[in-house]
Amino acid sequence: MTLPDGLIDVLRSARHICVLTGSGVSAESGVPTFREAQTGLWEKFDPQQLATPEAFQHDPALIWRWYRWRRELVARAEPNPGHYALVDLAARVPQLTLITQNVDGLHQRAGSRDVREFHGNLFVDRCSVGDCVITGADMRVDVPLCRECGGRLRPGVVWFGESIPADALRAADNAAGSCDVFLSIGTSSLVWPAAGLAEIAQRQGASVIEINPDATPLTGQSRFAISEKSGVALPELVDSLAL
Ligand code: OAD
Repeated sequence: MTLPDGLIDVLRSARHICVLTGSGVSAESGVPTFREAQTGLWEKFDPQQLATPEAFQHDPALIWRWYRWRRELVARAEPNPGHYALVDLAARVPQLTLITQNVDGLHQRAGSRDVREFHGNLFVDRCSVGDCVITGADMRVDVPLCRECGGRLRPGVVWFGESIPADALRAADNAAGSCDVFLSIGTSSLVWPAAGLAEIAQRQGASVIEINPDATPLTGQSRFAISEKSGVALPELVDSLAL
């Protein structure tokens, strides 16, 4: 892979890199991307219709079956070289903020610290009624219930139409507003507000770099666009920094 001219110099002189990742980063771990056709049993379902509060209200057992399937799939997956390269990159720059739209926890399993989860986490449960704190819920039933209030539990992820967790949103806005390099990796740049972070960074003068084998709305706006899988491009980029 040939890295674009000037890219390594920009990374070498960076004081604060803000990284935004999407489901493409986990594709090489065998986790299907969000917009990719789901496999097997879930082929005929559209994830954009399952990941909504309305779908949960209408058929909570169906939504729990889908999330249990995703939990099992992710639990079997392992971080890939792209995840590990981001851990190495963080060690090579004065400051790196990692924001992820992924709910799979693979960045953390690879060793990344202080990961800002924009869309929550697949392995956390939440009460759908109140703010009860839930641990060790009985998962052997179709729809697990909250031990505190008896309400239905739901997966602790952000669904379409719901707000981003306030602390993750604040951290992301601050990082995009103060970084000198913004790296957008494996995301279709279609879902807001995550898709707006690159623009915040660019407006205040940061260099935007995209890594994605396919073109996105961000590709033409980026200073550098690397058309490659993140599990290939990221290790090569980090190795080049070390030379
Ligand atoms: P998408 O499924 O929209 O996009 C995945 C992106 O990854 C695409 O642009 C692919 O081209 C790219 N891609 C595929 N394989 C790759 C690889 N090996 N290396 C790098 N890139 C690769 O997923 P997201 O952008 O993450 O939100 O979707 C953002 C949000 O939309 C998700 O968090 C989810 C979804 O709706 C909610 O559930 C709220």
